[in-house]
Amino acid sequence: MKSQRCLYAGKRFDRGSGLLSWIAKILRGKGPPEAQAGAKPPPPVGRAQAGASAKVPPRGAFLATMSHELRTPINAIVGYAELLLSPQVESGPPQKRLEYTRLILRSSRELQSLVDDVLDATRVQNGTLALKDQEHDFAELTEMVVRSMHDLAEANGINIVARLVPGIIVTGDPLRLRQVVRNLLSNAIKFSPNGGDVNIEMQRSYAGKLILAIRDPGIGISAQDLNRVFEPFVQVDHGPTRRFGGLGVGLSLAKHIAELHGGSVTLTSEPGKGTEARLILPDTRITWPADRKPTVA
Ligand SMILES: Nc1ncnc2c1ncn2[C@@H]1O[C@H](COP(=O)(O)OP(=O)(O)OP(=O)(O)O)[C@@H](O)[C@H]1O
Ligand SMILES: [Mg+2]
Repeated sequence: MKSQRCLYAGKRFDRGSGLLSWIAKILRGKGPPEAQAGAKPPPPVGRAQAGASAKVPPRGAFLATMSHELRTPINAIVGYAELLLSPQVESGPPQKRLEYTRLILRSSRELQSLVDDVLDATRVQNGTLALKDQEHDFAELTEMVVRSMHDLAEANGINIVARLVPGIIVTGDPLRLRQVVRNLLSNAIKFSPNGGDVNIEMQRSYAGKLILAIRDPGIGISAQDLNRVFEPFVQVDHGPTRRFGGLGVGLSLAKHIAELHGGSVTLTSEPGKGTEARLILPDTRITWPADRKPTVA
């Protein structure tokens, strides 16, 4: 395949033979106990189309999740700020102050991103989320997201292998589309076992659509839950035994943004085997490089 570039997210950086390889290999992280390392991506069983209807969770469960998610970064910010102001640290080595300041900044950004997600969920509900269209290269956009996910992938012991097709020009809102790719990729990383590979591929359909497929070898989603997870604030694993962080808004935002572009988000999944998430954008928004032929229906 001539015009394809492979991006590996991780620690090794290698520019041999025109490929950019940047391999994340692998810190020991905590994966869900029941997930099998190295499990193959799923065969295409039950596909849920974005937009299936479902109930949002009860208000109490939602508030419990929300306060838990907010409290973690707030506690870190308050704790490290107090340490910064303590006499020992104030008169101690500057490296410690720098380290605590960085931790405060990281937790502040987490908090900012949670609040942004809630505001976006409100915009979706009110129908006030608007696009700022411009032409952009979709491989560059995807690469930016993959690079920004490096730390999360490394912390979870995940390799990201991205096969990027340069020169696909999309007319759409690059900030919002980046958000879609980020939300799908963060799920693939979060719900996969330590040591697993997350694969990203770009395909052209016979109708000229762009398909960005993100496959993970993770815990998967049952057919009945596939109908619910596109709803805002719905998480399969919820309540006091919840193992994964997040508010449950990523997929609903991704679906809404894709639909504003005239596209869609779909999930194909099998419990214990993994999930394939697809962002599909319509041909009217895509200019294909001359040598890129359709490969999928
Ligand atoms: N790749 C995946 N593998 C397994 N389960 C998934 C996957 N993607 C989504 N899910 C399920 O769908 C739920 C909703 O996903 P969504 O991205 O909306 O929320 P979240 O990841 O829990 O939180 P947030 O995205 O707000 O940080 C998840 O909580 C999880 O139960
Ligand atoms: Mg998510």
